[in-house]
Amino acid sequence: MRVIVTGGAGFVGSHVVDGLLASGHEVLVIDDLSSGRRENLAPNAIFEELDIRKGEKVNEVFKRFRPHAVSHQAAQTSVSVSTREPLRDAEINVLGTLNILEAAVTVDVERVAFASTGGAIYGEVPEGTRAGLHTPPEPLSPYACSKFAAEAYLHRYQEVKGIQAHILRYANVYGPRQDPHGEAGVVAIFCQRILAGEPIQINAMKTEGDDGCIRDYVYVEDVVQANLMALEGELEAEIVNIATGQETTTLELANTIQQQAGPSQNGKQVEMHRAPMREGDLQRSVLEPTLPVETSLAQGLAQTVDWFRSRPI
Ligand SMILES: NC(=O)c1ccc[n+]([C@@H]2O[C@H](COP(=O)([O-])OP(=O)(O)OC[C@H]3O[C@@H](n4cnc5c(N)ncnc54)[C@H](O)[C@@H]3O)[C@@H](O)[C@H]2O)c1
Repeated sequence: MRVIVTGGAGFVGSHVVDGLLASGHEVLVIDDLSSGRRENLAPNAIFEELDIRKGEKVNEVFKRFRPHAVSHQAAQTSVSVSTREPLRDAEINVLGTLNILEAAVTVDVERVAFASTGGAIYGEVPEGTRAGLHTPPEPLSPYACSKFAAEAYLHRYQEVKGIQAHILRYANVYGPRQDPHGEAGVVAIFCQRILAGEPIQINAMKTEGDDGCIRDYVYVEDVVQANLMALEGELEAEIVNIATGQETTTLELANTIQQQAGPSQNGKQVEMHRAPMREGDLQRSVLEPTLPVETSLAQGLAQTVDWFRSRPI
Protein backbone atom coordinates (compact mmCIF):
# COMPACT_ATOMS: atom_id res chain seq x y z
CA MET A 1 0.00 0.00 0.00
CA ARG A 2 1.18 3.57 -0.70
CA VAL A 3 0.77 5.89 2.31
CA ILE A 4 1.40 9.61 2.74
CA VAL A 5 2.41 10.58 6.25
CA THR A 6 2.20 14.32 6.93
CA GLY A 7 4.47 15.42 9.75
CA GLY A 8 6.60 12.31 9.16
CA ALA A 9 9.78 14.09 10.31
CA GLY A 10 8.20 14.84 13.70
CA PHE A 11 8.04 12.80 16.87
CA VAL A 12 4.89 10.69 16.37
CA GLY A 13 4.92 10.87 12.56
CA SER A 14 8.44 9.47 12.24
CA HIS A 15 7.48 6.44 14.34
CA VAL A 16 4.37 5.94 12.19
CA VAL A 17 6.62 6.02 9.11
CA ASP A 18 8.94 3.40 10.64
CA GLY A 19 5.95 1.18 11.50
CA LEU A 20 4.55 1.43 7.98
CA LEU A 21 7.90 0.67 6.32
CA ALA A 22 8.44 -2.30 8.64
CA SER A 23 5.04 -3.64 7.53
CA GLY A 24 6.12 -3.43 3.89
CA HIS A 25 4.29 -0.27 2.80
CA GLU A 26 5.61 2.47 0.53
CA VAL A 27 5.75 5.83 2.31
CA LEU A 28 5.94 9.47 1.24
CA VAL A 29 6.47 12.09 3.94
CA ILE A 30 5.19 15.67 3.66
CA ASP A 31 6.81 17.91 6.28
CA ASP A 32 7.98 21.53 6.32
CA LEU A 33 10.58 20.75 9.04
CA SER A 34 9.17 23.57 11.21
CA SER A 35 9.51 21.36 14.27
CA GLY A 36 10.43 18.04 12.62
CA ARG A 37 14.01 17.02 12.01
CA ARG A 38 15.77 15.53 9.02
CA GLU A 39 17.51 13.00 11.27
CA ASN A 40 14.08 11.53 12.16
CA LEU A 41 13.37 10.78 8.49
CA ALA A 42 13.54 7.14 7.51
CA PRO A 43 15.99 6.74 4.59
CA ASN A 44 13.52 4.46 2.78
CA ALA A 45 10.72 7.02 2.77
CA ILE A 46 10.31 9.55 -0.04
CA PHE A 47 10.51 13.07 1.37
CA GLU A 48 8.71 16.24 0.18
CA GLU A 49 9.68 19.33 2.14
CA LEU A 50 6.38 21.15 1.91
CA ASP A 51 4.03 23.30 4.00
CA ILE A 52 0.52 21.79 4.09
CA ARG A 53 -0.87 25.32 3.82
CA LYS A 54 0.24 25.27 0.14
CA GLY A 55 -2.82 23.52 -1.28
CA GLU A 56 -1.75 23.38 -4.94
CA LYS A 57 1.63 21.89 -4.13
CA VAL A 58 0.00 19.35 -1.81
CA ASN A 59 -2.33 18.38 -4.66
CA GLU A 60 0.59 17.88 -7.05
CA VAL A 61 2.33 15.55 -4.59
CA PHE A 62 -0.84 13.49 -4.10
CA LYS A 63 -1.35 13.24 -7.89
CA ARG A 64 2.21 12.05 -8.40
CA PHE A 65 2.31 9.49 -5.54
CA ARG A 66 -1.36 8.37 -5.68
CA PRO A 67 -1.60 7.14 -2.07
CA HIS A 68 -4.16 4.59 -0.89
CA ALA A 69 -4.14 6.01 2.63
CA VAL A 70 -2.99 9.07 4.58
CA SER A 71 -1.78 9.44 8.16
CA HIS A 72 -2.22 13.14 8.92
CA GLN A 73 0.13 14.05 11.77
CA ALA A 74 1.39 17.50 10.68
CA ALA A 75 0.10 20.26 12.92
CA GLN A 76 0.83 23.27 15.03
CA THR A 77 1.02 21.24 18.23
CA SER A 78 1.58 23.70 21.05
CA VAL A 79 -1.34 24.82 23.24
CA SER A 80 0.51 27.93 24.39
CA VAL A 81 1.51 28.94 20.83
CA SER A 82 -2.16 28.54 19.86
CA THR A 83 -3.22 30.98 22.58
CA ARG A 84 -0.66 33.53 21.34
CA GLU A 85 -1.20 32.92 17.60
CA PRO A 86 -4.69 31.45 17.09
CA LEU A 87 -4.78 32.45 13.41
CA ARG A 88 -1.58 30.63 12.55
CA ASP A 89 -2.81 27.63 14.54
CA ALA A 90 -6.05 27.55 12.53
CA GLU A 91 -4.26 28.07 9.20
CA ILE A 92 -2.18 24.95 9.77
CA ASN A 93 -4.59 22.77 11.73
CA VAL A 94 -7.86 23.64 9.98
CA LEU A 95 -6.97 24.96 6.50
CA GLY A 96 -3.93 22.69 6.22
CA THR A 97 -6.12 19.69 7.07
CA LEU A 98 -8.64 20.79 4.43
CA ASN A 99 -5.85 20.91 1.85
CA ILE A 100 -4.97 17.31 2.74
CA LEU A 101 -8.61 16.19 2.53
CA GLU A 102 -9.19 17.96 -0.80
CA ALA A 103 -6.07 16.37 -2.27
CA ALA A 104 -7.14 12.98 -0.86
CA VAL A 105 -10.49 13.25 -2.64
CA THR A 106 -8.81 14.08 -5.97
CA VAL A 107 -6.90 10.80 -6.01
CA ASP A 108 -9.58 8.61 -4.35
CA VAL A 109 -7.71 7.93 -1.11
CA GLU A 110 -9.50 5.15 0.78
CA ARG A 111 -8.62 6.01 4.40
CA VAL A 112 -7.37 8.93 6.41
CA ALA A 113 -6.10 8.54 9.99
CA PHE A 114 -6.08 11.89 11.77
CA ALA A 115 -3.98 12.76 14.84
CA SER A 116 -6.44 14.45 17.14
CA THR A 117 -6.08 15.20 20.79
CA GLY A 118 -7.96 13.57 23.63
CA GLY A 119 -5.58 15.40 25.92
CA ALA A 120 -7.03 18.78 24.89
CA ILE A 121 -10.40 18.24 23.24
CA TYR A 122 -12.29 17.03 26.35
CA GLY A 123 -11.21 19.98 28.51
CA GLU A 124 -10.97 19.46 32.28
CA VAL A 125 -11.83 15.87 33.23
CA PRO A 126 -13.44 15.78 36.71
CA GLU A 127 -11.72 13.86 39.48
CA GLY A 128 -12.65 10.19 39.65
CA THR A 129 -13.75 10.07 35.98
CA ARG A 130 -12.22 9.41 32.57
CA ALA A 131 -13.23 11.12 29.32
CA GLY A 132 -14.86 8.52 27.09
CA LEU A 133 -16.24 8.75 23.56
CA HIS A 134 -19.62 9.70 25.06
CA THR A 135 -18.04 12.70 26.83
CA PRO A 136 -18.96 15.90 24.96
CA PRO A 137 -15.81 17.69 23.78
CA GLU A 138 -15.14 20.99 25.48
CA PRO A 139 -12.24 22.56 23.63
CA LEU A 140 -10.76 25.22 25.92
CA SER A 141 -7.73 26.36 23.88
CA PRO A 142 -7.44 27.51 20.25
CA TYR A 143 -5.41 24.32 19.64
CA ALA A 144 -8.27 22.15 20.95
CA CYS A 145 -10.74 24.21 18.84
CA SER A 146 -8.72 23.76 15.65
CA LYS A 147 -8.37 20.00 16.21
CA PHE A 148 -12.11 19.71 16.93
CA ALA A 149 -12.92 21.68 13.77
CA ALA A 150 -10.64 19.39 11.74
CA GLU A 151 -12.45 16.36 13.21
CA ALA A 152 -15.77 17.81 12.02
CA TYR A 153 -14.37 18.24 8.49
CA LEU A 154 -13.11 14.65 8.49
CA HIS A 155 -16.58 13.49 9.44
CA ARG A 156 -18.14 15.54 6.60
CA TYR A 157 -15.65 14.16 4.07
CA GLN A 158 -16.54 10.65 5.21
CA GLU A 159 -20.28 11.32 4.85
CA VAL A 160 -20.15 13.22 1.58
CA LYS A 161 -17.00 12.07 -0.24
CA GLY A 162 -16.79 8.48 0.99
CA ILE A 163 -13.32 8.64 2.55
CA GLN A 164 -13.01 6.28 5.54
CA ALA A 165 -12.05 8.64 8.36
CA HIS A 166 -10.36 7.52 11.58
CA ILE A 167 -10.04 10.16 14.26
CA LEU A 168 -7.39 9.07 16.75
CA ARG A 169 -7.63 11.11 19.93
CA TYR A 170 -4.23 10.73 21.53
CA ALA A 171 -3.66 11.23 25.25
CA ASN A 172 -0.20 12.59 26.21
CA VAL A 173 2.22 10.76 23.93
CA TYR A 174 5.83 10.19 25.01
CA GLY A 175 8.82 8.21 23.75
CA PRO A 176 12.11 8.44 21.85
CA ARG A 177 12.58 11.44 19.49
CA GLN A 178 10.20 13.71 21.40
CA ASP A 179 11.63 17.24 21.36
CA PRO A 180 13.05 18.18 24.79
CA HIS A 181 13.48 21.83 23.78
CA GLY A 182 9.83 22.69 23.13
CA GLU A 183 7.28 24.04 25.60
CA ALA A 184 5.39 20.75 25.67
CA GLY A 185 6.55 17.17 25.98
CA VAL A 186 7.18 17.01 29.71
CA VAL A 187 8.63 13.47 29.54
CA ALA A 188 11.30 14.54 27.05
CA ILE A 189 12.09 17.70 29.00
CA PHE A 190 12.41 15.81 32.29
CA CYS A 191 14.49 12.99 30.74
CA GLN A 192 16.98 15.38 29.28
CA ARG A 193 17.28 17.61 32.36
CA ILE A 194 17.40 14.74 34.86
CA LEU A 195 20.10 12.92 32.89
CA ALA A 196 22.08 16.17 32.75
CA GLY A 197 21.61 16.75 36.50
CA GLU A 198 19.73 20.01 35.85
CA PRO A 199 16.79 21.22 38.00
CA ILE A 200 13.27 20.59 36.78
CA GLN A 201 10.15 22.70 37.09
CA ILE A 202 6.80 21.26 38.06
CA ASN A 203 3.98 23.47 36.82
CA ALA A 204 0.81 23.82 38.88
CA MET A 205 2.26 22.25 42.00
CA LYS A 206 0.93 25.00 44.22
CA THR A 207 1.27 23.87 47.80
CA GLU A 208 2.82 21.11 49.86
CA GLY A 209 0.86 17.92 49.12
CA ASP A 210 -0.13 19.07 45.61
CA ASP A 211 1.62 16.79 43.10
CA GLY A 212 0.95 18.85 39.97
CA CYS A 213 -1.19 18.27 36.88
CA ILE A 214 -2.69 14.85 36.19
CA ARG A 215 -2.17 13.28 32.79
CA ASP A 216 -2.66 10.02 30.92
CA TYR A 217 0.69 9.12 29.32
CA VAL A 218 0.65 6.77 26.33
CA TYR A 219 3.79 5.30 24.73
CA VAL A 220 4.44 6.25 21.10
CA GLU A 221 4.61 2.62 19.90
CA ASP A 222 0.99 2.11 21.03
CA VAL A 223 0.03 5.20 19.00
CA VAL A 224 1.83 3.70 15.98
CA GLN A 225 -0.15 0.44 16.33
CA ALA A 226 -3.43 2.40 16.33
CA ASN A 227 -2.36 4.24 13.16
CA LEU A 228 -1.42 0.97 11.46
CA MET A 229 -4.77 -0.59 12.36
CA ALA A 230 -6.60 2.43 10.94
CA LEU A 231 -4.53 2.64 7.75
CA GLU A 232 -4.63 -1.10 7.05
CA GLY A 233 -8.42 -1.18 7.39
CA GLU A 234 -8.50 -3.13 10.67
CA LEU A 235 -10.28 -0.43 12.63
CA GLU A 236 -14.00 0.02 12.28
CA ALA A 237 -14.62 2.91 14.64
CA GLU A 238 -14.53 6.45 13.32
CA ILE A 239 -13.36 7.94 16.64
CA VAL A 240 -11.05 6.27 19.17
CA ASN A 241 -9.18 7.36 22.30
CA ILE A 242 -5.55 6.24 22.28
CA ALA A 243 -4.75 6.22 25.98
CA THR A 244 -3.94 4.06 28.99
CA GLY A 245 -6.72 5.29 31.31
CA GLN A 246 -4.13 5.64 34.09
CA GLU A 247 -3.61 8.92 35.86
CA THR A 248 -0.13 10.14 36.72
CA THR A 249 0.79 13.38 38.48
CA THR A 250 3.75 15.42 37.29
CA LEU A 251 5.55 14.65 40.54
CA GLU A 252 5.02 10.88 40.12
CA LEU A 253 6.31 11.19 36.57
CA ALA A 254 9.41 13.09 37.70
CA ASN A 255 10.12 10.55 40.45
CA THR A 256 9.75 7.57 38.09
CA ILE A 257 12.10 9.16 35.55
CA GLN A 258 14.61 9.89 38.36
CA GLN A 259 14.49 6.21 39.36
CA GLN A 260 14.94 5.01 35.78
CA ALA A 261 17.77 7.46 35.16
CA GLY A 262 19.66 6.61 38.34
CA PRO A 263 21.82 9.20 40.10
CA SER A 264 22.70 12.17 37.89
CA GLN A 265 26.28 13.08 37.03
CA ASN A 266 26.97 14.75 40.38
CA GLY A 267 25.44 11.79 42.22
CA LYS A 268 22.41 13.71 43.57
CA GLN A 269 18.71 13.77 42.79
CA VAL A 270 17.91 16.85 40.70
CA GLU A 271 16.17 19.82 42.33
CA MET A 272 12.47 20.35 41.70
CA HIS A 273 10.86 23.80 41.64
CA ARG A 274 7.19 24.65 41.79
CA ALA A 275 5.79 26.94 39.08
CA PRO A 276 2.32 28.30 38.32
CA MET A 277 0.05 26.65 35.78
CA ARG A 278 0.51 27.93 32.21
CA GLU A 279 -2.26 29.55 30.19
CA GLY A 280 -4.36 26.93 28.41
CA ASP A 281 -3.04 24.03 30.53
CA LEU A 282 -5.55 21.66 32.13
CA GLN A 283 -5.36 20.47 35.72
CA ARG A 284 -6.62 16.95 34.98
CA SER A 285 -6.87 14.93 31.76
CA VAL A 286 -7.45 11.16 31.80
CA LEU A 287 -9.13 9.20 28.99
CA GLU A 288 -11.12 6.01 28.70
CA PRO A 289 -9.03 3.89 26.29
CA THR A 290 -10.86 2.51 23.24
CA LEU A 291 -8.11 0.08 22.17
CA PRO A 292 -5.86 -2.05 24.37
CA VAL A 293 -2.35 -0.65 24.85
CA GLU A 294 0.71 -2.84 25.34
CA THR A 295 3.21 -0.65 27.13
CA SER A 296 3.18 0.17 30.85
CA LEU A 297 4.42 3.58 31.97
CA ALA A 298 7.47 1.97 33.64
CA GLN A 299 8.40 0.07 30.43
CA GLY A 300 7.83 3.09 28.19
CA LEU A 301 9.79 5.45 30.44
CA ALA A 302 12.69 2.97 30.70
CA GLN A 303 12.94 2.87 26.88
CA THR A 304 12.63 6.63 26.63
CA VAL A 305 15.30 7.28 29.27
CA ASP A 306 17.62 4.79 27.49
CA TRP A 307 17.11 6.62 24.21
CA PHE A 308 17.89 10.02 25.75
CA ARG A 309 20.91 8.54 27.52
CA SER A 310 22.29 7.32 24.20
CA ARG A 311 22.18 10.82 22.67
CA PRO A 312 24.76 13.57 23.09
CA ILE A 313 23.30 16.27 25.38
N1 LIG B 1 2.66 14.46 21.29
C1 LIG B 1 1.47 14.43 21.90
O1 LIG B 1 1.39 14.23 23.12
C2 LIG B 1 0.21 14.60 21.11
C3 LIG B 1 -1.01 14.49 21.78
C4 LIG B 1 -2.19 14.65 21.06
C5 LIG B 1 -2.13 14.89 19.71
N2 LIG B 1 -0.94 15.02 19.09
C6 LIG B 1 -0.93 15.28 17.65
O2 LIG B 1 -0.08 14.34 17.03
C7 LIG B 1 0.53 14.92 15.87
C8 LIG B 1 2.03 14.76 15.95
O3 LIG B 1 2.52 15.50 17.09
P1 LIG B 1 4.03 15.43 17.56
O4 LIG B 1 4.02 15.43 19.04
O5 LIG B 1 4.73 14.36 16.82
O6 LIG B 1 4.57 16.86 17.12
P2 LIG B 1 5.84 17.25 16.23
O7 LIG B 1 5.95 18.74 16.30
O8 LIG B 1 7.02 16.43 16.59
O9 LIG B 1 5.35 16.81 14.78
C9 LIG B 1 4.61 17.65 13.93
C10 LIG B 1 5.26 17.59 12.57
O10 LIG B 1 4.47 18.37 11.66
C11 LIG B 1 5.34 19.20 10.89
N3 LIG B 1 4.57 20.39 10.52
C12 LIG B 1 4.10 21.38 11.33
N4 LIG B 1 3.46 22.31 10.60
C13 LIG B 1 3.53 21.90 9.30
C14 LIG B 1 3.06 22.45 8.08
N5 LIG B 1 2.42 23.63 8.04
N6 LIG B 1 3.30 21.77 6.94
C15 LIG B 1 3.98 20.58 6.96
N7 LIG B 1 4.45 20.01 8.09
C16 LIG B 1 4.23 20.67 9.25
C17 LIG B 1 6.50 19.52 11.82
O11 LIG B 1 7.68 19.91 11.14
C18 LIG B 1 6.67 18.19 12.55
O12 LIG B 1 7.54 17.33 11.86
C19 LIG B 1 0.06 16.37 15.85
O13 LIG B 1 -1.04 16.46 14.98
C20 LIG B 1 -0.38 16.64 17.27
O14 LIG B 1 -1.34 17.65 17.35
C21 LIG B 1 0.24 14.89 19.75
